[in-house]
Amino acid sequence: MNVIAIANQKGGCGKTTTAVNLAAACAETGRSVLLVDLDPQGHASLALGLDTAMLGRSMRDALMRPAVSMSEIILPVMEGCDIAPSNITLASVEQELAGEPERESRLAIALRELPKEYDFVLIDCAPSLGFLTINALVAADEAIVPVESSSFSLHGLERFLDTVDMVERNMAKQITVRALATLFNPRTRYGRRVYEELTEQFGDRLFATSIRCSVVVKEAAARGVPVGAVRRNSTVHDDYLALAAELTESVPVITLDEHPPEDEGQPGPMVRGGVVRFRLYAPEASTVQVAGEFNDWNPIEGRMEADVDAGLWVLDVDLPPGRYRYRFVVDGAWIEDPAMPYEESAAGYRNSVVEVSAAKSAE
Ligand SMILES: Nc1ncnc2c1ncn2[C@@H]1O[C@H](COP(=O)(O)OP(=O)(O)OP(=O)(O)O)[C@@H](O)[C@H]1O
Ligand SMILES: [Mg+2]
Repeated sequence: MNVIAIANQKGGCGKTTTAVNLAAACAETGRSVLLVDLDPQGHASLALGLDTAMLGRSMRDALMRPAVSMSEIILPVMEGCDIAPSNITLASVEQELAGEPERESRLAIALRELPKEYDFVLIDCAPSLGFLTINALVAADEAIVPVESSSFSLHGLERFLDTVDMVERNMAKQITVRALATLFNPRTRYGRRVYEELTEQFGDRLFATSIRCSVVVKEAAARGVPVGAVRRNSTVHDDYLALAAELTESVPVITLDEHPPEDEGQPGPMVRGGVVRFRLYAPEASTVQVAGEFNDWNPIEGRMEADVDAGLWVLDVDLPPGRYRYRFVVDGAWIEDPAMPYEESAAGYRNSVVEVSAAKSAE
């Protein structure tokens, strides 16, 4: 069981969106997940369709009353995913437990006796570094720190990392911290610059997956469902599936530092000066396009140029470091890149995967 706190004291950086949709993506790909709502705002509970004013038992009871077990609190919300909900009654727990011994370990103790073994426990934290977030960190093996890429500030992150250090020292434990770029717009120069700064700051402690902005997020939250239930082929749904895969490292990823496997003489993509050159050998085709996460899967934006004699179609795309899924469209038919590994989408499409490493793109 992997316990992951999704935390950042900065408000509105995508903690709840990540907790809810990562939980759904993990469940969709066959893992069992418990989502713990540890925010008195109850946003994660609301985002999964619960009426927080009508809750029976909630996380308040788990923290305040050791006799109440988690099995009395947990509710099933979708196949593979349960929630331990919260509401505003959680807000006073810090004061009510003032002076109590081990009050920072209340959540860790509650999680010791779960009714079943989950693959992941994801904890949606409140925007503060107070008692509740400390409880989450004490219980956690890992922390995901969403960083809003559209209004960027590293200030708060240092304070957050200091808090993690403090918990590690006091509890004699280790917490793996990784940053996640959220509300990311790869098509703006500003968005790309922020991503580069994050890469410099966090190095391999930054998820290769970043979560792009999408209107589907608000629509899903308003309807009380995860993004995949609103639109299965949305970019943000794909991003959370990629994040789930990265979290479990179960999807093979090829980096352009390695030589792509060649198949039937197909060349595969290559990097030149920070630009990815997509290539497909298709001498019979009259149009070839590339559509992927970098152009919103829009083939019109990915028209490739043909070298008519050699039959090779190419397109150069300026891509920031990251992991991208794509497909070719040959005379209107969608195919995977025969030279590259693919992963199958929930809808059964084979999407080729290419990863641009930070070192390469900085060339
Ligand atoms: N990828 C996205 N695309 C578009 N909007 C998003 C995305 N992620 C988050 N948002 C929006 O940004 C706002 C803040 O997101 P969210 O509630 O997940 O942040 P939070 O960190 O949990 O906030 P808080 O600190 O209040 O708990 C919400 O209105 C949400 O709909
Ligand atoms: Mg939130």
